[in-house]
Amino acid sequence: MKIIKAKDYDDMSRKAANIISAQVIMKPNCVLGLATGSTPIGTYAQLVDWYNKGDLDFSGVTTVNLDEYKGLTRDNDQSYYYFMHDNLFGKVNVDLKRTFLPNGTEADSEKACRDYDQVIADVGGVDLQLLGLGHNGHIGFNEPGDTFVAQTHCVDLAESTIKANQRFFASIDEVPRQAYTMGIRTIMQAKKILVVVSGADKAKIVKEAFFGAITPKVQASVLQLHNDVIVVADEAALSELAL
Ligand code: F6R
Repeated sequence: MKIIKAKDYDDMSRKAANIISAQVIMKPNCVLGLATGSTPIGTYAQLVDWYNKGDLDFSGVTTVNLDEYKGLTRDNDQSYYYFMHDNLFGKVNVDLKRTFLPNGTEADSEKACRDYDQVIADVGGVDLQLLGLGHNGHIGFNEPGDTFVAQTHCVDLAESTIKANQRFFASIDEVPRQAYTMGIRTIMQAKKILVVVSGADKAKIVKEAFFGAITPKVQASVLQLHNDVIVVADEAALSELAL
């Protein structure tokens, strides 16, 4: 695991975008695994900026997102489909037919998960997976538990995750209770993994996840076993480490 220290959020975003753009330039038909949440917003903005300057071309790229809320339609502004269109897909020349997320409107969870695993298999797996880190150590919506779940599955979101996501909704009652998420095996099978982390509120979990015991209670800890992980974190997020 390689840890890159960034000065602040903007620096983290630029450094992470650099790694993604290197991937796109080196392999124009690559498969990018993408994340939502607050942390990667600046990374996407930087990629859009470089695209607008003519330095990046997404026309050959395929994307698969980590997760989607169960029950939200694509036009709901809190769905991850909407987020991705707002922050990236609608602003660069990626072929929308090759952008994939779990289908949040599929009520049959088993079918939604099976279909999504098939999509990931069909595109040939992920070249570069971008991840954020939850305060409870989740990656995607793989919540703390007794096991690592291999494939795409339907999760009951942890109470802490529902609370953390409340800020995006009018009230806590509107926060979906379930989501479809890529499983740990799929994430671990990505050739390269890029984790972005920002803020002092993540400092404790950064230390636990990347320097603590490998345990499903802290799902991100499994990343210690992957042979090509880059963590780009700002000084505040690294403040519990002597780096
Ligand atoms: C998003 C996702 C989540 C977030 C995590 C951190 O697709 O799967 O694991 O990456 O909750 O969220 P932020 O960046 O909002 O702190």
